[in-house]
Amino acid sequence: MNNLQKQRRDFLRFLATSPLLALSARLRAEETLEQLSLPEFMISSPEEALDVFDFHTVAKRKLPPAHYGYLATGTDANETLSANRKAFEHVYLRPMRMVDTSNVRLETTLLGQKLESPIILAPVGSQGAFHPEAELATARAARARNHLQILSNVTSSRIEDVIAARGEPVWFQLYPTNQWAVAKMMLERAEAAGARVVVLTVDLNSGSNRVLLEQYIRTDDRDCSSCHGNGGINDFLRMNPMYHGAEVSYDHFDTSGMTWAYLEKIRQATSMKIVVKGIVTREDAGAAVNAGADAVYVSNHGGRAEASGRGALESLREVVETVNGRVPVIVDSGFRRGTDIFKALAIGADAVAIGRAYIWGLAAFGQAGVEKVLEMLNGELQMVMRQVGIASVPGISAKYVGMTN
Ligand code: FNR
Repeated sequence: MNNLQKQRRDFLRFLATSPLLALSARLRAEETLEQLSLPEFMISSPEEALDVFDFHTVAKRKLPPAHYGYLATGTDANETLSANRKAFEHVYLRPMRMVDTSNVRLETTLLGQKLESPIILAPVGSQGAFHPEAELATARAARARNHLQILSNVTSSRIEDVIAARGEPVWFQLYPTNQWAVAKMMLERAEAAGARVVVLTVDLNSGSNRVLLEQYIRTDDRDCSSCHGNGGINDFLRMNPMYHGAEVSYDHFDTSGMTWAYLEKIRQATSMKIVVKGIVTREDAGAAVNAGADAVYVSNHGGRAEASGRGALESLREVVETVNGRVPVIVDSGFRRGTDIFKALAIGADAVAIGRAYIWGLAAFGQAGVEKVLEMLNGELQMVMRQVGIASVPGISAKYVGMTN
């Protein structure tokens, strides 16, 4: 270690134990104490990774500022983004000893579909911003590791190609516009391509205040027009293969008038199962089930929807209570470790989706990075299961965790 590195380490140690820590609240998104207290180290291959944050370091270094900002951003001062991580600190493990966990298995079932792992890939739009192979690299990794993939309708790759790369149907996530014909066209196309589940995202109907994204954009001096055009609606449509042939204009993306009646319209238009993504309250969990949702997906969009300041794990508790086993519950937002995933499963989630964690892998090393992220999280989850004394995912229950408040 050279002198400079030693000074830096000493300073960070001092910082970690001093009142200056209060400053960490001002740190930008994802730069949590978890990273602050560590020496910066850039892995040069996926195999070197110790946890998923190693991929974050590489992704941040590799991505152009505006693309990194798109990935990292929360809303306002990133309150919800931080709350997602903090929520895990209020749930502790209750390990049971002397249980035979010599054969820990991750298999489970979700909406009648057998999964080799409860860890699934959340819909993340425009993956071409992170790697040239975009959603196809993600699909190949999902295939290699056999994980369920949810494809965003603001995808950089055609759904038909993604399903071919995945080797089986993906779930299709839909952002509605206020033009029913556009949604209908997409539903028909997704179903024809083989998708059997549509995930309706309902948490971005009124826009979101992504300050961090704008801060990164203004530090990016590249000419973006060769890829993004001039940023108008026609360029957006040109970039997003699901919107080809759609009659839409800028105003159509305002969906603030959408209500629960929309679910019935979808049900009339498709035989795909319907999952409602973006639920954070018991009231909406109940409403979603009453409106005929086949599954409820707890998510605050990874802190990118509104500055509620509430972690998704806390929302999960009241949603699980209200749903009470009537339909499966999926959760995402802030999951970075096997321990996080275990806590959600113990609280009552049937599956846990990851967003940024796999995109860090994608941005850092393409398909190999996504594969390694999945391998690590599966391995970490299995280790936690051995530690707490439970050998199968369906057997994970509330007795394995407690709450500090
Ligand atoms: C997203 N998310 C998202 N959700 C959705 O329903 N459709 C989409 O197109 C996108 N696009 C998107 C892009 C980027 C860059 C991010 C980071 C997220 C939200 C995503 O599905 C998921 O809810 C969060 O990513 C979960 O939080 P973590 O795991 O990123 O903390």
